Amino acid sequence: MFEIKELKKEKYVNLIYKLENKIFTDPWTKKMIKGEFNNKLAVILGIINTKTKELVGYSFLFSIYDEIHLNNIAVKKDYRNKGLGKKLLDYIIKYGVENYFTRITLEVRESNKEALNLYYKYGFELISRRNGYYSNPKEDALILMKSLKQDIK
Ligand SMILES: CC(C)(COP(=O)(O)OP(=O)(O)OC[C@H]1O[C@@H](n2cnc3c(N)ncnc32)[C@H](O)[C@@H]1OP(=O)(O)O)[C@@H](O)C(=O)NCCC(=O)NCCS
Repeated sequence: MFEIKELKKEKYVNLIYKLENKIFTDPWTKKMIKGEFNNKLAVILGIINTKTKELVGYSFLFSIYDEIHLNNIAVKKDYRNKGLGKKLLDYIIKYGVENYFTRITLEVRESNKEALNLYYKYGFELISRRNGYYSNPKEDALILMKSLKQDIK
């Protein structure tokens, strides 16, 4: 079983830092991760394996007015393709609707097919491109947006 919870304690900084370095070629630094835990506009979500208490995924959200910016979403390699990415996105959308946000935006590498499939499945739309936004390797970012209006029940 897996549960999603808001991570509030800085004890997760090292754990997330380790996962970042395994998952991304341009990982966030420890300072950046720590900064999010001290940022009032940020929400950090974790996916916990309830049996082992292991942190198997996470997401960094940042709120700007009525918008949630999804800074990051990641699932540990051994745990992928089990629906955890979808579980996390479901949670984020529900959180957004319940807290009166009207849209979610994000940046994604143009070659990141797994993430793009996930986002398009959830109704994100391509709104713009940032040339050479990413490093290691240098790559354009696609900017996607999802309106939350149709998710309000
Ligand atoms: C993107 C990511 C979070 C998806 O997590 P996940 O737990 O594997 O996703 P799920 O099992 O919930 O799958 C959700 C959807 O993603 C897409 N997807 C996932 N893995 C895929 C793959 N290997 N190939 C193509 N599409 C894939 C599919 O559309 C899938 O839906 P489906 O199972 O109904 O076909 C995960 O691949 C990851 O952590 N990637 C590395 C970090 C990253 O790139 N994050 C995005 C930063 S913008």
